[in-house]
Amino acid sequence: MFRSVLSLAALVAAAQAATSVCNQTTYTATSQSDLDAIASCGSLSGSLVISDTLTSAAIDGISSIGGSLTVSNNSQINTISAPALDSIGGAFTLSELTLLTSLNFPRLASVGSIYWVTLPALSTLTFTTGVTDCPSIYISDTDLTSLDGISPTVATKFEINNNLNLDTVDIPLEYATDQIDVSYNGNTDVSFPDLKWSNNLTFQDVASVSTPSLTTVNGSYLLISNVFTSLTASNLTSVGGLTITDNDDVTSISFPELVTIGTAGLDIANNTDLENLSGFPKLTTVSGAIILEGSFTNATFPELTLVRGAVTIESDEDFDCSDFNALDEDNGIRGNDYKCDAASSSTSVANTAVATSTSGSSAEATTTKASKTTTSSSASSTSGSSASTATSTSTAGAANIAISTSGYVFTGFLTALFFGIF
Ligand SMILES: *[C@@H]1O[C@H](CO)[C@@H](O)[C@H](O)[C@H]1NC(C)=O
Ligand SMILES: *[C@@H]1O[C@H](CO)[C@@H](O)[C@H](O)[C@H]1NC(C)=O
Ligand SMILES: *[C@@H]1O[C@H](CO)[C@@H](O)[C@H](O)[C@H]1NC(C)=O
Ligand SMILES: *[C@@H]1O[C@H](CO)[C@@H](O)[C@H](O)[C@H]1NC(C)=O
Ligand SMILES: *[C@@H]1O[C@H](CO)[C@@H](O)[C@H](O)[C@H]1NC(C)=O
Ligand SMILES: *[C@@H]1O[C@H](CO)[C@@H](O)[C@H](O)[C@H]1NC(C)=O
Ligand SMILES: *[C@@H]1O[C@H](CO)[C@@H](O)[C@H](O)[C@H]1NC(C)=O
Ligand SMILES: *[C@@H]1O[C@H](CO)[C@@H](O)[C@H](O)[C@H]1NC(C)=O
Repeated sequence: MFRSVLSLAALVAAAQAATSVCNQTTYTATSQSDLDAIASCGSLSGSLVISDTLTSAAIDGISSIGGSLTVSNNSQINTISAPALDSIGGAFTLSELTLLTSLNFPRLASVGSIYWVTLPALSTLTFTTGVTDCPSIYISDTDLTSLDGISPTVATKFEINNNLNLDTVDIPLEYATDQIDVSYNGNTDVSFPDLKWSNNLTFQDVASVSTPSLTTVNGSYLLISNVFTSLTASNLTSVGGLTITDNDDVTSISFPELVTIGTAGLDIANNTDLENLSGFPKLTTVSGAIILEGSFTNATFPELTLVRGAVTIESDEDFDCSDFNALDEDNGIRGNDYKCDAASSSTSVANTAVATSTSGSSAEATTTKASKTTTSSSASSTSGSSASTATSTSTAGAANIAISTSGYVFTGFLTALFFGIF
């Protein structure tokens, strides 16, 4: 009798103790015995903080943490394990853990968010089940070589940067509502085999990109300073903006299904080995500006009929501006500025005036000719007589285009020229 009363009291005490430790808003462990004291909770409704006094942490017995799990600013901890843990409701934060080498979470599948920063000794994860449910991931400055064990299918954010030994990022994401950004890692091969759309998408300093299912980038798609030689977006039909800059090794870009580019426009510049910009066979509309700069000889956009912004083209190779001149003449360039400046091409043109085709009004234009000198003038012309010697290949009928030939500058109206000749 006495014995059973005692044990009942012990049970009540244990239950009370369990309630108090298991239900704290935040439980801070300053030693392994503090972690041992919550092992019988099974789950924690609040958050768990592991302080900078531990050299290793074993979170045994806990299968779920309702709040967050935080380990930060600890320069001596080398191992964190949680053999039973399968979910963390809030943020899983690991930051500034300079000696951490082992992260052992074999059952972890669901996490509110991952925020791991400055874990320079962490090279592998033991995430046997794998995190498949984690909408927000930020991993920066680790020694990870792969993200094996991190495999979300949907995300708001997925940002991976400054992990200098990261060889592979291969993630089954289907979409990202905010952004995907893989930047400044090692020579990372990046693959998102199931990705259909992302709001913003950025790849910087990567070795390869594979996005075979990608159809839409709602916002901006940035490809900057990568080291791949070719880029193919085989299913991409629409982007809010496309920037391809400073990719020194790229020789081939192919966007075979891309039809529309939004207000953020198209910017292809400083890709030193890229001579062929004709990888846009279906591009029809660009709602922003177009900037093409580099050493290219071919930039044929056979379906392009409307550019709502300005167009700036500069090639230091022999590039024929005729197609863009014709687009401008057809009022296909709605922005105020159109400039096409190519080396050794008589078709270079710069048009800073708003295009109007009213014959006889004055025009201001700048033309760059083969010798790379630039002239600007303002003139009006009602006759094509002297202009018939101009060597322009531009089609007649254009307004406000100045043609420069080797001998002199002719500025005026090709509309008039057109009528003068015919
Ligand atoms: C206290 O925590 C336990 C174990 O997580 C849980 O079963 C119980 O519902 C919680 N009680 C309250 C009042 O939150
Ligand atoms: C990190 O810990 C060190 C030593 O304990 C302390 O001086 C420093 O203020 C802490 N830094 C942060 C950001 O908490
Ligand atoms: C998406 O990119 C655009 C253009 O670069 C930028 O203005 C916007 O803030 C980005 N959105 C997010 C969520 O990063
Ligand atoms: C590419 O798009 C087509 C048409 O929408 C679709 O049938 C095909 O499965 C897509 N390819 C990939 C690899 O997703
Ligand atoms: C982005 O585009 C896809 C495909 O059209 C669409 O399903 C998705 O809702 C869009 N997302 C955003 C954030 O606008
Ligand atoms: C091209 O690179 C040069 C030198 O790095 C830089 O000044 C310029 O702004 C870049 N142009 C574009 C369009 O990115
Ligand atoms: C330019 O690149 C596109 C896309 O890769 C390709 O289809 C085309 O044949 C290339 N054109 C030339 C002249 O190399
Ligand atoms: C540019 O490339 C297109 C497609 O690749 C081709 O049809 C065209 O002849 C090329 N133009 C020049 C001037 O090389």
